[in-house]
Amino acid sequence: MTGAGGQLGHALLEEFPDARGVTRAEWDVTHPAPAGMHPGLVLHAAAWTDVDGAEDDPQSAAAVNVGGVQHAAELGAPLVVWSSDYVFDGAKRTPYVESDPPAPLGAYGRTKLHGEGAAGEQAWIIRSSWLFGWTSRNFVRTMLRLGRERDEVAVVDDQRGCPTYVGHLAAATRDVLELPHGLYHVAAEGECTWAEFAEAIFAEAGLPTRVRRIATDELGARAPRPAYSVLRSEKGAPVLPHWREGLRECLARLGDG
Ligand SMILES: NC(=O)c1ccc[n+]([C@@H]2O[C@H](COP(=O)([O-])OP(=O)(O)OC[C@H]3O[C@@H](n4cnc5c(N)ncnc54)[C@H](OP(=O)(O)O)[C@@H]3O)[C@@H](O)[C@H]2O)c1
Repeated sequence: MTGAGGQLGHALLEEFPDARGVTRAEWDVTHPAPAGMHPGLVLHAAAWTDVDGAEDDPQSAAAVNVGGVQHAAELGAPLVVWSSDYVFDGAKRTPYVESDPPAPLGAYGRTKLHGEGAAGEQAWIIRSSWLFGWTSRNFVRTMLRLGRERDEVAVVDDQRGCPTYVGHLAAATRDVLELPHGLYHVAAEGECTWAEFAEAIFAEAGLPTRVRRIATDELGARAPRPAYSVLRSEKGAPVLPHWREGLRECLARLGDG
């Protein structure tokens, strides 16, 4: 399992306790795998996930998100890769299913889409969205920190998606392995905006912090993001618990529930 130091990586290591977790120090996936790796299954959770940074340095992002998948596929074992709701442009207002045509708005989404193509035939490609967990940098941990420091936090209210708890995604990965190879959408039940998600985080954590709802333009982020990226499956992919349930589990794990 690559990406052992990431938020999904931590959850996968709990779900697949016999997996050998590999960090960047052991294998920088922009290079072919070191000699001596002969896995029966590759869980490829390593990725460039800095969406704004990918706009500044798309080649480095592609080296990880496309080249890395290619190198993982070259190991010759069945492969699981995770992709993103950011392969869509967000123009729809009903959930995106697997047969919807991708049209990424930014460099990160483009690298993830090309990475899907590099996974080969022996692969499960799991598109998910708005991941959060108990480690690494993520929206829940950032909001908890800001919520303790400030009375009010400005949060974008014009992007809708499915905040997905990595524990639920890792557990669902086991079920995906029972399905034929191919592309699957696996994201939390329910949907919300980032502002609604922030309000739920403060409410569940018992913080009095107010959320000031702003538009994406006001934030001035470098990368464009889809306004709507709710993912659902038309192929019988596992259905995850609601995002609020994931939030509660995550906060309990962080000691903030
Ligand atoms: N985060 C989201 O909201 C989101 C949404 C949809 C899909 N996804 C996808 O879900 C998967 C897991 O994401 P995540 O949130 O767990 O990401 P994450 O927390 O950022 O973890 C990514 C891991 O990849 C490692 N990595 C980066 N470059 C590497 C390289 N060149 N060689 C080896 N390892 C490298 C990182 O190592 P370092 O710690 O050393 O940098 C980190 O441990 C990714 O495919 C991502 O695109 C994420």
